[in-house]
Amino acid sequence: MRKRVFSGIQPTGSLMIGNYLGAMQNYVKLQDDYDCVYCIVDLHAITIQQDPKELKARSREVTGLLLAAGIDPKRSILFIQSHISAHSELAWILNCFIPMGWMQRMTQFKEKSAKHREQVSVGLFDYPALMAADILLYNTDVVPVGEDQKQHVELARDAAQRFNSIYGETFVLPEPLIPDVGARIMGLDDPTKKMSKSETASGHAIDLLDPPDAIRAKIMRATTDSQREIRFDSSRPGIFNLLTIYHLFSRRSQKDIEAQFEGKGYSDFKEALAEVVIEGLRPLQERYRELTADPTHIDSILADSAARARPTAEKVLAEARRKVGLG
Ligand code: AMP
Ligand code: TRP
Repeated sequence: MRKRVFSGIQPTGSLMIGNYLGAMQNYVKLQDDYDCVYCIVDLHAITIQQDPKELKARSREVTGLLLAAGIDPKRSILFIQSHISAHSELAWILNCFIPMGWMQRMTQFKEKSAKHREQVSVGLFDYPALMAADILLYNTDVVPVGEDQKQHVELARDAAQRFNSIYGETFVLPEPLIPDVGARIMGLDDPTKKMSKSETASGHAIDLLDPPDAIRAKIMRATTDSQREIRFDSSRPGIFNLLTIYHLFSRRSQKDIEAQFEGKGYSDFKEALAEVVIEGLRPLQERYRELTADPTHIDSILADSAARARPTAEKVLAEARRKVGLG
């Protein structure tokens, strides 16, 4: 039996190259060796207030982009979290087993609550319990995520362990899987800040659906430094980040890339980088246009996937309910 992979992605903001290089490409590759379940986590999205129409449209856009990137709905399951009510229900049960102290240590909550000070909901604080439910409902072994989510996956594992030790074997213990290179693509406008799809500054991120001209303009304006050498030197975050993007899109070695740009200037390098990114995204953009030409196509894939995911989720939930004494 193949091991189970589960991961989730929020339908907020436009998916950008950080998501693609740090998460989506990896999701696609994992399909060869694992039984994969990918989830568009709209319940997580509403921990911060969303425009209702936009949220629904974004959920379809993210689905389309994942399919265009190579998620194969015949081999993998790709569904929307709120379509399977077991997620909310298991999250509640787990809530009652997760100590406050564990939640209070979550660094992402500290960052997000400082940023959205005027509307910090209980849901935002409790976000990791819902994430634990997502993971545990599918008997997940491996959770591919960026570095920033590692702490949440560990909390899911701890919650599973705690539940199992009280009630006996119920949940499979998951492990995070963090890619080594490109785990953290930084903002083009500020290479000391992680590239984020919720950041709205126009020069910050390259969105997956950006047309070639926008990609060129953003890269040419990207922040670098006043030095000259084009080398993978992590103490120079701007050029290091651009080189990492080049490396990941071109799939060429760091040594080759340094040799190619030896003696060249930043603007030559940026022009070459723009072309590599444009060509790298072209097939994905074309497939996205084909997939969305029929507006009902994506919804039918989502419905079919949810129908395949539901039996596993319901079985695990029923087991947890029974153990706790509900019903
Ligand atoms: P998010 O955009 O925060 O919902 O993240 C969706 C997925 O993309 C998660 O696996 C993240 O860790 C990954 N991700 C988000 N931003 C980046 C980034 N700047 N670099 C690498 N991976 C990222
Ligand atoms: N919290 C994750 C993020 O923001 C998304 C997510 C929700 C997730 N549920 C998950 C990731 C379960 C992995 C497994 O990126």
